[in-house]
Amino acid sequence: MVASFLFTAIKQFTEILYFTTTININRMKIIIVGASGTLGKKVTAALKDKHEVITAGRNSGDVRVDITSVSSIENLYKQVGKFDALVSVTGSAHMAPLKDIKDADFRKGIDSKLMGQVNLVLIGQHYINPNGSFTLTSGILSNDPIKMGVNLSTVNGAINSFVIGAAVDLENGVRINAISPGVVEDSPGYFEAFPGHIPVAMDKVVAAYIKSVLGAITGKVIEIH
Ligand SMILES: NC(=O)c1ccc[n+]([C@@H]2O[C@H](COP(=O)([O-])OP(=O)(O)OC[C@H]3O[C@@H](n4cnc5c(N)ncnc54)[C@H](OP(=O)(O)O)[C@@H]3O)[C@@H](O)[C@H]2O)c1
Repeated sequence: MVASFLFTAIKQFTEILYFTTTININRMKIIIVGASGTLGKKVTAALKDKHEVITAGRNSGDVRVDITSVSSIENLYKQVGKFDALVSVTGSAHMAPLKDIKDADFRKGIDSKLMGQVNLVLIGQHYINPNGSFTLTSGILSNDPIKMGVNLSTVNGAINSFVIGAAVDLENGVRINAISPGVVEDSPGYFEAFPGHIPVAMDKVVAAYIKSVLGAITGKVIEIH
């Protein structure tokens, strides 16, 4: 009876130990690019108490990085070394009527929000620990457009497709997801540009990032309405 109880207890303890070490839910080393931003600061606040969070931004954070520069991203990973999760809550694009947009304007979103985040993965895959994760940010404009948002619609759609394609190729159990929020309640300055859109509560936004980082899903686009 006692032996049976002990056996069950040891088995359960071993399973929990295996589970926590396999997916690193104890204490992860998490890089958050864009940590000082509207979304980034809420995501950072939710993760920093239980994990080693390294904040990064162009003009702020523990480490400086400009995602439009490949050498700057390489420098970020060289400074941080091995890590368990990368959360990107950054990237900009060009807002203008289609009739006014030229090649150079359109490339702003491609170079920043799209290739910036793609390069965080292309370079980061060589530094990330097994069973780690990448979480990128796209946005609802990929399928629910607004006026003057064609550059963002395009790059958001590409980020979603990148995540779907990359998920089946990433090695060593590394996961990748995209978070696709609607306009968020902490960005009232954008509300006029989003007529009829109901701003998304920040706790729902944060929960999506937590699900991607601490959960088990991969290759998903998490839409937050
Ligand atoms: N706000 C919304 O309603 C909303 C809705 C859907 C999707 N999104 C998407 O969510 C992401 C974050 O939006 P946000 O509103 O939180 O933006 P935000 O408040 O402007 O913050 C941007 C963050 O990115 C950093 N950053 C800017 N340029 C950078 C660069 N070239 N390299 C590295 N870091 C850079 C900024 O830090 P530094 O100032 O230190 O550089 C800052 O921490 C964007 O991709 C946006 O399109 C936002």
